[in-house]
Amino acid sequence: MADIARMNRRRFLGRTAMAAGGFALAGAAPRVAYTAATDTIGVGVIGCGGRGMGAADNCLEAAQGVKIVALADAFADRVERAKAKFKVPDNRCFVGLEAYREVLALSEVDLVILATPPGFRPLHFSAAVEAGKHIFTEKPVAVCAAGVRQMLEAAEKSVAKKLCVAAGTQRRHDPKYMETMKRIRDGAIGQIVSAQCYWNQGGLWVKKREPNQSDIEWQLRNWLYFVWLSGDHIVEQHVHNIDVINWAMGALPDQVHSLGGRQFRTAPEYGHIYDHFGTEFFYPGDVRTISLCRQIEGSAGNVSERVVGTKGWSNCAGVIEGEVKWRYEGPTPNPYVEEHRHLIESIRGGAYLNEARQVTESTMCAIMARESAYTRQQMKREWFLQRCELDLRPRSDLKMSDPMPVPPVAVPGKYQLPGLVVEEKGKRT
Ligand SMILES: NC(=O)c1ccc[n+]([C@@H]2O[C@H](COP(=O)([O-])OP(=O)(O)OC[C@H]3O[C@@H](n4cnc5c(N)ncnc54)[C@H](O)[C@@H]3O)[C@@H](O)[C@H]2O)c1
Repeated sequence: MADIARMNRRRFLGRTAMAAGGFALAGAAPRVAYTAATDTIGVGVIGCGGRGMGAADNCLEAAQGVKIVALADAFADRVERAKAKFKVPDNRCFVGLEAYREVLALSEVDLVILATPPGFRPLHFSAAVEAGKHIFTEKPVAVCAAGVRQMLEAAEKSVAKKLCVAAGTQRRHDPKYMETMKRIRDGAIGQIVSAQCYWNQGGLWVKKREPNQSDIEWQLRNWLYFVWLSGDHIVEQHVHNIDVINWAMGALPDQVHSLGGRQFRTAPEYGHIYDHFGTEFFYPGDVRTISLCRQIEGSAGNVSERVVGTKGWSNCAGVIEGEVKWRYEGPTPNPYVEEHRHLIESIRGGAYLNEARQVTESTMCAIMARESAYTRQQMKREWFLQRCELDLRPRSDLKMSDPMPVPPVAVPGKYQLPGLVVEEKGKRT
């Protein structure tokens, strides 16, 4: 009976969905996925780690009539833990690198939470779009140029299929950010002339290699420290702040110039990523912004953004100073829940939400910065999008037993970026 109702619901969607106007955030394309707010939304979780479990909790908190119905993870222990918590039957729990396919094949799944390490995101996101699922995707959504291109294509397809997509850039759903951005847009600080953003902190968790672990198993368990999985910490973490600056600017940088290094975290368990980056982004009109990110124990912590205009400045999060002085005093709901609330409202026929392109673009900016630091070259967005040949995507038939040697730490001047030809000293083609 429930399946018949679900089929009818899908037919109804097929008949009534309206053409979407683009990738725009909210309100662009009204669509009706569910006829009643009481219809249950079945959620599949792909990647049952810390954030996958957290996002599932947030999704359940966001609305009535939401149920976790399927789970997938590369590892059995992760699936077991999630299965016990969300009471998912055995026949909808899947283990292994191909487990995502099983979740996507289930008709009970309307919405998928994608919360594996980001290296798998283009593969999983594209497959979810093909399967016609609504998507909550954790950030970042790619780690290389080929992944960015795959995501952009899948993002376009998700809009064409009227699928709803929210990304784990939760500041975009935080009322204090939303209200501040509205005021910045309305001219509260005048014309933006510069900006700064930061993610400076100590270390994150790290896992030493256990005896008998294959290359892939160890790297998946310790994924933060391998570029093919995390994209380096500028992509994995700092994408949040870069995304806020893109949002404030209402534009993407045309060029990026970055430097960085690895001075503190040099032990083998830290793979081959850097521990600090400093980046200059060049936005249209030669507006330049600075971004600093660091994962070094004992660092002065700072996770924030700041936008400077001709009439004042703002922290993008509830404070405006200058000719206009303003403090946000509205409600402060949990943005991790809000992002799911907005997604579910969209699925149920509210303002259309599809953040796939937006999160891909911010991910791209972070990857460009990383590659600029690794290569010591200035990186143009158009070149990166069209000609960068870096492809770190895992094969779709990747096996736990496959060899995966750890690449050397990128040394500027020695590191080779596929597609990059340096024509003359200090200048990139
Ligand atoms: N929005 C935020 O504030 C926020 C916070 C933390 C993490 N994240 C993001 O969430 C994602 C997950 O991070 P996490 O902290 O939960 O990591 P985690 O290691 O706790 O969880 C990742 C899970 O994915 C599983 N996995 C790995 N490869 C897989 C595959 N191919 N198929 C299925 N399962 C696979 C792992 O076994 C693990 O259980 C990352 O993209 C991270 O950047 C976002």
